[in-house]
Amino acid sequence: MLTYSYNILPQTTQSVAMLLDTNFTHTITTLGWDKAFFLVDENVLQLHASYFLDKRVVSIKSGEAAKDIHYVMSLMETLLSLRMQRSDLLIGVGGGVVSDITGFLGATYKRGVAFAFFPTTLLAMVDAAIGGKNGINIGTYKNMMGTISQPTHILYDYSFLSSLPQNEWVNGFAEIIKHACIRDVNMFDELSQNNVAFYQKNMKSLKQLIAKNVSIKSDIISQDVNETGIRKLLNFGHTLAHAIEKHYNLDHGKAVSIGMYYDALLSHKINGFQYHGRIQQLLQQYHLPTHFECDFATLMPYIANDKKNHSDATIDYIFLEAIGIGKVVSTNIKKIETLIQSI
Ligand SMILES: NC(=O)c1ccc[n+]([C@@H]2O[C@H](COP(=O)([O-])OP(=O)(O)OC[C@H]3O[C@@H](n4cnc5c(N)ncnc54)[C@H](O)[C@@H]3O)[C@@H](O)[C@H]2O)c1
Repeated sequence: MLTYSYNILPQTTQSVAMLLDTNFTHTITTLGWDKAFFLVDENVLQLHASYFLDKRVVSIKSGEAAKDIHYVMSLMETLLSLRMQRSDLLIGVGGGVVSDITGFLGATYKRGVAFAFFPTTLLAMVDAAIGGKNGINIGTYKNMMGTISQPTHILYDYSFLSSLPQNEWVNGFAEIIKHACIRDVNMFDELSQNNVAFYQKNMKSLKQLIAKNVSIKSDIISQDVNETGIRKLLNFGHTLAHAIEKHYNLDHGKAVSIGMYYDALLSHKINGFQYHGRIQQLLQQYHLPTHFECDFATLMPYIANDKKNHSDATIDYIFLEAIGIGKVVSTNIKKIETLIQSI
C-alpha cells in the first residue's frame, strides 16, 4: 500500500515517499527502530484490527476525555508496566486526540522517546499531526499542559479515511478553511467551488488538498517552531473555540468553525474586514456551524486564562486583513470580551 511519510522536522519541509507494508513490520525497521509501541484510538483499533495483529498495542478511549491529565498519566503507567524503553518508538494511530497524547507522552516519558504519528482523521492529517505542539487538558481548561517536540515521522495511509464518519469529515474541513482564511486565497476559492462530497469522491483532489494543507502548516512551523510570532496565526478562531469546546462539549472542528466566524466579525469591527459573509457561506457549504446558542458570559473566564495572553490585560488575537491574510495583534482582553458579547 503506497502512503507518504512527511518528514516535517523544523529544518526541512521535504516530503519523503515510502512504501509501507500493511502490518508495519518493515515500516518500523525502515524508520530505524526494532521495537515500537502503538497507541491506537479504540474505534480505529476495532475497524482496522488486522493492522495491529501481533503488535504492542495500547487502546486509547475515543474522544476528548482521553486528553484528561489523569487518563494520560494512566497511559504513562501502562507504558512503564509494558517496559517500554527510551530506545523504543511510540506511534500514535488516530485523530488529533491520539496525536496530542502521543506527542505529550513521547516528549515526557522517561524524559523523551522518539515518536511518530499515523493520523486517521482528516483533521489530524491536515493539522493536528503537524507541528509537534501537543497539549492535554486540565479539568475544563483545554491544552493547558503541553510540549513542543517534533515527531520523527508522520505516516499517511489514506485508506483509513474510508471508515471515517461523515461528521468527522466535516470537522476536518474546519481546519482546512482556517488555513485558507489565514494564508491562501486560492485554496479558499477552490474550496468555494467544491464541497465535502466532491473531495470524498475524488481521491486525487483530496490528496492534493491534504498535501497543500501539510505544506501551509509546515511552512509556518518551520519559521516559528516555538510560537513566538507567525505560528500564532494558526490560532485563528481557536480562542473562542477552545472555550466553547470544553464548556459545551462540542467537537473541535465545529467549535473552530464558530470561533472563526466570530473572529471574522471581530475583524470586521476592528479592522474593517469586508468578507465575513463569504467565510460564513463557505463554512455553511461544508456543513459547519457559524452560530451557537450559549451564554457568552460563561466563556469569558476561558478567554482570560487563554495561553496567548501575555498579561492580565492583553492577548495576542488573530484578525483577518483580507481572505488569505491573517495578522496577530496584541489586543485588550476586555475589548474582545465586550465585542464578542455584542455580536
Ligand atoms: N496539536 C495540534 O496542533 C492540534 C491541532 C488541531 C487539533 N488538535 C486536537 O485534536 C483533537 C481533535 O482531533 P479529531 O477531530 O481528529 O478528533 P478525535 O481524535 O477525537 O477523532 C474523532 C473521532 O473519529 C474517530 N476516528 C478516528 N479515525 C477514524 C477512522 N479512520 N475511522 C473511523 N473513526 C475514526 C475517533 O474514534 C473519534 O471518535 C482536539 O483535541 C484538538 O485539540 C490538535
